[in-house]
Amino acid sequence: MKGLPGFRDFYPEPIPTADSWSMDLRRYIFDTWRGTAERYGFREYDGPPIEELGLYTKKSGDEIVGQLYNFNDKGDRGVSLRPEMTPTLARMAASHSRNYKKPIKWFSIPQLFRYERQQKGRLREHFQLNADIIGEENQAADAELIALLIDTLRDLKLTNDDFVVRLSSRLAWQDFFENSDGQEKDAYDFYQIIDKLDREDPAVSGEKLAEIGFSIDQVNDFIESGQATDELAAIIGNIEARGLGNFIEIDYRIIRGLAYYTGPVYEAFDKRGKFRAIAGGGRYDHLVKLVSGGKTDLPALGFGMGDVVLAELLKEHGLVPALGQTLDAFVQIADESLRDASLGLVQQLRQAGLTTEYPLLKAKQEKQFKRALELKAKWLVTLDNANQVHVKNLGTRKELTVPLIEVASALQD
Ligand code: HAM
Repeated sequence: MKGLPGFRDFYPEPIPTADSWSMDLRRYIFDTWRGTAERYGFREYDGPPIEELGLYTKKSGDEIVGQLYNFNDKGDRGVSLRPEMTPTLARMAASHSRNYKKPIKWFSIPQLFRYERQQKGRLREHFQLNADIIGEENQAADAELIALLIDTLRDLKLTNDDFVVRLSSRLAWQDFFENSDGQEKDAYDFYQIIDKLDREDPAVSGEKLAEIGFSIDQVNDFIESGQATDELAAIIGNIEARGLGNFIEIDYRIIRGLAYYTGPVYEAFDKRGKFRAIAGGGRYDHLVKLVSGGKTDLPALGFGMGDVVLAELLKEHGLVPALGQTLDAFVQIADESLRDASLGLVQQLRQAGLTTEYPLLKAKQEKQFKRALELKAKWLVTLDNANQVHVKNLGTRKELTVPLIEVASALQD
């Protein structure tokens, strides 16, 4: 049987085929995400992978609702696999925000599920780094998140030749929308047309805009004006003060597909324009109130960075580090009468924190040696007798003999 389309198997290195997904690369990405977020003072949280359907249908907007993995559970509740983390975070923050000092800075690495048409950079399951700040209205918080986004990508060795964060504002678009004379129209319908401008045939976008009383020229003029609003100027100033100004630019083509955004929004792209967005986010000041039925009102903002586009980008730029197993020690069992004593030695090395392997069953010495080389063991360790160990550095070929009780500390030195 095969896995479902759009779902990945992650294999340890060396991966079986060039297009297999690497568990080691996934760990490298997650470790970097975690490391950068923690350096910025963010704390890790998690929530359930299944939520009540209503959490998404009311708040995320049609685009994501059309992609839900939803079903009725055995208690006949309408539920859905999580397509994104933000509604769960809003729910969690609304229930216990009083227990936490504001601003709350949290991150998570959830696996998310969207029934999308499978294509390059888009699967039916992906992981995201989500970093969010709850309880701060000031643009200093928007800038803090954008700086974290930039530094996360820099920690993965990408530079400002490789990516850019395009900054925009729902507020600016809202002003544009409200100040234009048109007919009765829904702002979210308008935002969705803007969100698809890059991907849609211009004639189709033009028609859709005309239906709600706008012309494509009007929209293009606004995009080209590229004027920073006060809130965007404050964010840019803050990012520049950190010396990260060359990683951002204003681009009003960004508006974000999700319904809940209220203020500054942004997306990160590779500069060669080969891939879909690496990350996207923004301010969503009304979501916590909406999710809590009006009980808790807290401003909030954040971003999500996906692992799929990121892994493709790292491969394309040759930035995947050497991955795979490395071993501190391979314990060779040359004499089967010393197997029990060798197991004691393996245990001693592992307890000392050394990654250690040995042959599970009797094997020829050449075969054991070959295995030690395949596993890239640093040391080949062999019991000479019950008290004495022979150690060989497989890199330098240096050899030494040490008493059994001292072998772990000898290897650590
Ligand atoms: P999003 O733009 O839907 O935002 O997703 C963020 C990133 O996740 C995208 O830029 C992309 O890299 C990745 N991504 C999304 N869908 C897929 C997919 N089907 N396959 C592979 N990668 C994908 C959100 O989800 C917001 N909740 C982010 C956020 C957090 N906003 C505020 N806080």
